[in-house]
Amino acid sequence: MVFREDILAGKVAFVTGGGSGICKGITEALMRHGATAAIAGRQAPRLEAAARELEERTGKRCLATPCDVREPATVEAALDRTLAELGGIDIVVNGAAGNFLAPASQLSYNGFRTVMGIDALGTFNVCRAAFDRWLRDHGGVILNISATLHYGATPMQVHASAAKAAVDSMTKSLALEWGKLGIRVNGIAPGPIADTEGMSRLAPGDLSAKLASRVPIGRYGRIEEIANLAVFLASDAASLIHGTTIVADGGAWLVGTPLEY
Ligand code: HXC
Ligand code: NAP
Repeated sequence: MVFREDILAGKVAFVTGGGSGICKGITEALMRHGATAAIAGRQAPRLEAAARELEERTGKRCLATPCDVREPATVEAALDRTLAELGGIDIVVNGAAGNFLAPASQLSYNGFRTVMGIDALGTFNVCRAAFDRWLRDHGGVILNISATLHYGATPMQVHASAAKAAVDSMTKSLALEWGKLGIRVNGIAPGPIADTEGMSRLAPGDLSAKLASRVPIGRYGRIEEIANLAVFLASDAASLIHGTTIVADGGAWLVGTPLEY
């Protein structure tokens, strides 16, 4: 472990998207450093299995709280259950996201709306409901999982780029309004991360090795590298870091994605 193992002792984390991929890795890291957790997603059986696996791996409690981040009532119910069973919500991680490759000329209205709904509206819904229920009176940490797609422009990603740009904007606005309440709001922008649903959708098959070789450090990132950053940002070591989105991508966005790839 890079950090002291008790730096998040006594904290409770609520992680959307925590049933798979990067955010499951983030949840595991938060738990290894002392936190208990609730993980949220739509697929209840997968979420339940992930919660049991995380408990076995870390020895800490993990609650499966199914919800659809696009539906505020389900988000509120998941947060209420977390509060009732775990006693607080100190760390909120907004990782739920949807994505697929689609040229703007062929993307349907509903396809665009769906990704905006999960990534952007979902992030606001969770932040707002967690604010009302706990953060306003107790403070806490919000981590919004973003991307670097919109730093330049990325082909076939008009939906996800717009959604993550909105997430980054929210990170700044919420930091501005909620900082004095002891709520620290930051974002993490991963580059391409190996062995994730995201990269299997965006760079299937042979494309993966080609894109990885373009990354300045010569490889994709690893889930645990993003998880370590989340532990740092959730901890008091990051007490002055507020309203910013930290890129962890091995320099990938400096190169960008060519229009034809
Ligand atoms: C074009 C598509 C599509 C595709 C769905 N749609 N998949 N359009 N190409 N491959 C369209 C549908 O046709 C539909 O529009 C609309 O999107 C909604 O589709 P549904 O299947 O009804 O949506 P839903 O069941 O809500 O599922 C959401 C989803 C799905 C995003 C479409 O794939 C999902 O649940 N994804 C979650 C997992 C995921 O995506 N993980 C990767 C995150 S990675 P019409 O008009 O037909 O009704 C990530 C990486 C960022 O974010 C950066 C990496 C570098
Ligand atoms: P992933 O495993 O597919 O994670 C996405 C999660 O979001 C799933 O657990 C999914 O669970 C949940 N989710 C989707 N729609 C939801 C909804 N409406 N309500 C609640 N939960 C929902 O993908 P990943 O690749 O690890 O990506 C995780 C995060 O990192 C995302 O924010 C993504 O944008 C970001 N990111 C990833 C990469 C990468 O290289 N993979 C790069 C940059 C940024 P259910 O299906 O159960 O709902």
